[in-house]
Amino acid sequence: MTPSIRPLIVGNWKMNGLTASLNEFNAFGAGNDAALRRAVDLIICPPATLLSALAHSAPGKGISIGAQDCHMKDSGAHTGDLSAAMLADAGASAVLVGHSERRADHGESDAIVRAKAEAAYRNGLTAIICVGETRAEREAGKTLSVIRRQLKGSVPETMTARDLVIGYEPVWAIGTGLTPTAKDVEEVHASIRAELKKIIGKEEGARTRILYGGSVKPTNAKELLAVPNVDGLLVGGASLKAEDFLTIAGFYR
Ligand code: PGA
Repeated sequence: MTPSIRPLIVGNWKMNGLTASLNEFNAFGAGNDAALRRAVDLIICPPATLLSALAHSAPGKGISIGAQDCHMKDSGAHTGDLSAAMLADAGASAVLVGHSERRADHGESDAIVRAKAEAAYRNGLTAIICVGETRAEREAGKTLSVIRRQLKGSVPETMTARDLVIGYEPVWAIGTGLTPTAKDVEEVHASIRAELKKIIGKEEGARTRILYGGSVKPTNAKELLAVPNVDGLLVGGASLKAEDFLTIAGFYR
């Protein structure tokens, strides 16, 4: 944690969730009590099909709604894509960009991620820019240089701590049950903090929230949240159940 930064827990539902998930979302709201609301910001990123429904049901729950991706343009002939303008119109206040599953499955380069972050900014959405090394890159000792390159290539210099969140997600830790040691997370987050200060300036870089993501569970969240420069968590699988997600966020109480 960084004492002066308000923490944030983001749930990424990925390609999971049908209309029935609205019931689960109600449970998220019911468990988000006054103490939790005082302590931490919560964002749920449902699939786009549920975005509008969750946004309509969100008022009073103390939970903001985010999207999982956006197109770099605001409108046009891009069948199947969604623009940041559309996501904002549907009730999103944030959007994940550059998630490793997008980078890998859809060939998204740093330049594309940067253009998506700019689209988010233009449309008033907080961009949650994800970075992270593969197993091969970690084993080759390239973790810090890979993360630096991703940050340089994908974070627009004009962004501020208000519009920007960084998600550090080691690719090998996502959905695998594996997590880096607290010491490794500390090293990477310190390096991200230093790089951010270079890119968006000392003050904004010092205030920007840096989240850890990858196999976060109720059993390991407390240790991860105690790491310096970990200002919250990006939670995949464990965000599908209100009980797990609220237990994780509840460590901030
Ligand atoms: P996981 O996913 O928590 O299921 O590992 C995290 C993410 O990809 O955002």
